[in-house]
Amino acid sequence: MNDLKEEIKSRLSVEDVVGQYVELKRAGRNLKGHSPWGVDKTPSFMVSPEKGIWHDFSANKGGDIFTFIMEVEGVSFKEALEKLANKAGVDLSKYRGNNPNLTKKKNRARAALALATKYYQLCLTRNKPVCEYVFYQRNLNRKTVSDFKIGYAPASGKALTGVLQKRGFNLTELDDAGLLNRFKGDLFRDRMTIPFIDTSGNIIGFTARILKKAEPKYLNTPETILFNKSRFIFGLYQAKESILHSGFVVIVEGNMDVISSHQAGVKEAVATSGTAMTEQHLKTLSNFTHDIRLAYDGDEAGIKATERAIMMAGDLGIDITVISDYHGAKDPDELIQKDPKLWQSAVEKRVPAVEWLLKKYEENLNLNSAPDKRKYSDVALKLLGYVKDEVERASYEEKVAKKLDVEVEILREKGERLNKKIAQSTHKYLKKPKTEFKSNQLKKLENSLLALKIFGGITKTKIPFEVPEDETKLDELELIFNREHENVGDNNLEKEATELLFRYNRELNRQKIKALNAELENLDEDSAAYDKILKEIYELQNAS
Ligand code: UTP
Ligand code: MN
Repeated sequence: MNDLKEEIKSRLSVEDVVGQYVELKRAGRNLKGHSPWGVDKTPSFMVSPEKGIWHDFSANKGGDIFTFIMEVEGVSFKEALEKLANKAGVDLSKYRGNNPNLTKKKNRARAALALATKYYQLCLTRNKPVCEYVFYQRNLNRKTVSDFKIGYAPASGKALTGVLQKRGFNLTELDDAGLLNRFKGDLFRDRMTIPFIDTSGNIIGFTARILKKAEPKYLNTPETILFNKSRFIFGLYQAKESILHSGFVVIVEGNMDVISSHQAGVKEAVATSGTAMTEQHLKTLSNFTHDIRLAYDGDEAGIKATERAIMMAGDLGIDITVISDYHGAKDPDELIQKDPKLWQSAVEKRVPAVEWLLKKYEENLNLNSAPDKRKYSDVALKLLGYVKDEVERASYEEKVAKKLDVEVEILREKGERLNKKIAQSTHKYLKKPKTEFKSNQLKKLENSLLALKIFGGITKTKIPFEVPEDETKLDELELIFNREHENVGDNNLEKEATELLFRYNRELNRQKIKALNAELENLDEDSAAYDKILKEIYELQNAS
């Protein structure tokens, strides 16, 4: 595994890998850019070409090319390794003691899908009625059709299978790629084809639309060794640069909405294909931006999807807004057919998702009636329970209280009662593991202290962390030292270390107290455990 990592590193420079996501400018021996996680005002993202590492000072992350791909694409180490090996032209099967078969299978499936795409593209150019559908009925232009590699799967039952077999693919390989139906013939027939392209540009499957009115409207590649629908984000490959550049993403419902939106100049649009949004989808997107705009239907399903997004967003620090100004159109595509400008301005005119939901809750209720007030406060309070920020939540509570014409204290009391109920019924799921929760702030302080210990020659201040053995980590710490502490001057380094250590301990105490307080909530006030934890909290409070 280490040989493989080294081989890939020797072929790919960190600036090339990172440079695909971050615009880098030279700054002395290093390169500088804006954080791809979009939280810095001045460039806080550093790359050291000599050491082959990066560090993001605003998001407090860092590492080598592998950790970069893991972070930015939201993938596992294995997937990052595969991607980079691919990019570097390193043959993974040479190194894979564990599963050379799977790698080979995947490569064959990718090759089959790439060829299938080319074949479908060719078939489109040869078929006039389908061109009519694509270019005139759907109003797509040549560039869009080529960017999204749109094609046509012929009606005859074995057209693609025959072509691919002639090119040396066997039926098992085509089945691995998800191209066959139950009878070992073509899965997609007489349909417009749209490939699923992963963020590295590989084709991993298709969605295919029927041309006439019939069922099912769309046929999708089933789960395969390449295609996992709860991870895949349609359009992200084409959208990622724009998302990083504009700092927001628009999630629409349909694949055709994505394509139309790109053509209309809103290239930040993506969709979760044929499935509801999962936490994995959100995690991946949150690596690109924290400004997520939902363009779902205003129907019951759209409301549920928005609620789910809010529930998942809290922990990821994501800002969710809703685009809803469709001027009567049923989806973004239809709006764009009316006028692309209407869609462009709809994307700007977003409202906070919580606000949008509160309005929706109100729609079927009469807020002059007491029972409806109860119903409204039930759903509203449940929703507000997911708003993590205290100030934001307080502001919504006030709005809701005003709507109900009650004192905000009464609303809060009810909120506490409801939340307690929820906590009681779910506390065994909510309980955090005993291991200490490390806040971002703590990690940052720990890094700075280690950097001072190793590169600042600190001796008097006792820094209680082991020097890491990992080379990449050491290089990263040096980068941190150079940026944050080099100018402090030797005489002041000890003072700085003492100060940082003080802050570290204070923060650690705070975290511990917070964790203990959370434990208290689940305990009976008369129990011995409750007293014990209370005592611990007092001691910690006195220590800091
Ligand atoms: P819609 O029915 O809203 O289709 O499904 P659409 O995107 O507006 O498509 P057009 O404009 O009629 O061509 C939304 C999404 O749900 C999934 C697809 O991912 C589609 O983009 N879907 C829908 C399926 O997977 N299968 C279906 O049969 C229908
Ligand atoms: Mn549509």
